[in-house]
Amino acid sequence: MDKRVHELLNQQINKELYSAYLYLDFSNYFKRVGLDGFANWYMIQAQEERDHAMLFYQYLQNESQVVTLEAIAKPDKELNSHMDVLLAGLEHERYVTSLIHDIYSAAYDVRDFRTMQFLDWFVKEQGEEETNANDMITKMELFGSDPKSLYMLNQELAARVYTAPSLVL
Ligand code: FEO
Repeated sequence: MDKRVHELLNQQINKELYSAYLYLDFSNYFKRVGLDGFANWYMIQAQEERDHAMLFYQYLQNESQVVTLEAIAKPDKELNSHMDVLLAGLEHERYVTSLIHDIYSAAYDVRDFRTMQFLDWFVKEQGEEETNANDMITKMELFGSDPKSLYMLNQELAARVYTAPSLVL
């Protein structure tokens, strides 16, 4: 495997684990303010990010490439309001999308078609993640200031259940 592609794929394990850590912090915020449904939603989001990390980990191992695990950074977002959390989520997903595109671009440059095919799932997934983050913001804008509506929204998010990723390696 090309050195740069390998390096970026390996880094992505860390980025996805950081994403899990960040969403755990979001879940923690909502638990603290008594919105258990939001806390549940972000807890499941954190689980999905751990799955993403494992997919990169497994892909490298399947390709007989060395995996190097680095330290996971402390979540660095200032969370002072519900909307802060949701905006931080969207900003973070856009950043992750840019990382996936960078790896794709590096793989494209060296005609690494297998890595490009592996990344196709993530390109689509990032589209969904950004849509979800945007939807959360829209809903909070619409309902966030009315306690009864916020309660209903919280109930809706409490219903989210974990499903394993559709990508199997
Ligand atoms: Fe692993 Fe939310 O992207």
